[in-house]
Amino acid sequence: MQRFIDLCPVQESPFLLMDRAALESKVNDFLTHTKNCGVFYAVKANPEPQVISMFAKAGLGFEISSTAELDLLLGLGVDAKKIITSNPIKAPAFIAKMYQHGVRQFVFDSVTEAEKIAEQAPGSDVVIRLTVENLESSWPLTDKFGVGPDEAVNLLLHSRDLGLNPAGVTFHVGSQCEGVLSWHAALERAADVWRQTAEGGVELNVLNIGGGFPANHGADVPSVAAIYDIVFTRVAELFPPDITLEAEPGRALVADAGALVGSVVGKAARDGENWLYLDVGVFNGLMEAVGDIPYVFTPFSDPGTDVKKWTIAGPSCDSFDVVAKDISLAELAVGDRVLITPGGAYTTAYASNFNGVQIPAVIVA
Ligand SMILES: Cc1ncc(COP(=O)(O)O)c(C=O)c1O
Repeated sequence: MQRFIDLCPVQESPFLLMDRAALESKVNDFLTHTKNCGVFYAVKANPEPQVISMFAKAGLGFEISSTAELDLLLGLGVDAKKIITSNPIKAPAFIAKMYQHGVRQFVFDSVTEAEKIAEQAPGSDVVIRLTVENLESSWPLTDKFGVGPDEAVNLLLHSRDLGLNPAGVTFHVGSQCEGVLSWHAALERAADVWRQTAEGGVELNVLNIGGGFPANHGADVPSVAAIYDIVFTRVAELFPPDITLEAEPGRALVADAGALVGSVVGKAARDGENWLYLDVGVFNGLMEAVGDIPYVFTPFSDPGTDVKKWTIAGPSCDSFDVVAKDISLAELAVGDRVLITPGGAYTTAYASNFNGVQIPAVIVA
């Protein structure tokens, strides 16, 4: 925490402070431990242009979902060859623009999407999004996307009839996945699809293991090395040796390298509950708090010894804007600064101006 405090500029809060050295070390660590794997940063986690440029320089590819994200990357000089999309449901104009820039791999999970891809990006490689258990994830990504193994095989085989090239399987174990068993189970399910598709006369070659690598939200989590070790071993056991392996980490590359800097804007005691109001809340940075993602709150000043339990809320005039309960902190005063970690992923990316609250500026220091 002290490093963030040391790096902190004199600037009105709220803002997101990204530690350049920590970002570099996250990327190096990820690339070092994911041998034989194409790594595509999921831009949605933090689309800050300076972060994107750093990652491009480090050799990462990018995973995107929309035309706006494509325009952002192209505007920063990212080579379209380094860009993929794993959004299973895409706007036709986005598919068309990706195709126009030379992208030839698209994810799908329905007949309608396959037909759309066949029309907008004829002859492209298609990768099926498989449902997998998200039981160890704090931010599950089930339900909205994906199909089970039988449907996956049918769709892959059907895509051939549309003139597409059935190329592979992708899944997501859920964001902030804190266990390693999820990857085991997901790889077995993917191998099943692989085998059945081969029985149907189609050899796949792309295995995309998605994101899900966790950040430190106040508790120890498995390292990228530990997770990838398991993935790599299991892939070698279950899949042919010459497959194209891809990963799309978002959170793991940016979360721990960033801290939101907020200030106390108010306090209240209500029915025995101590409330602390900050200038960062659900609507302008801490949206994931509504999914019970925990954050660590560290005062800049000496916290003293008179520690109490606090309910922490944001600045808007809305009762939904509560970010944490039972947080032990010493008494703070209006204007005191608080560091909120990890702040680098899914914070400013989600932030809105609701109620006129300020979207935190991003500072890379
Ligand atoms: C398709 C896809 N890939 C990658 C990611 C990044 O996941 P994470 O931030 O958990 O690594 C997401 C997150 O929603 C996603 O939907």
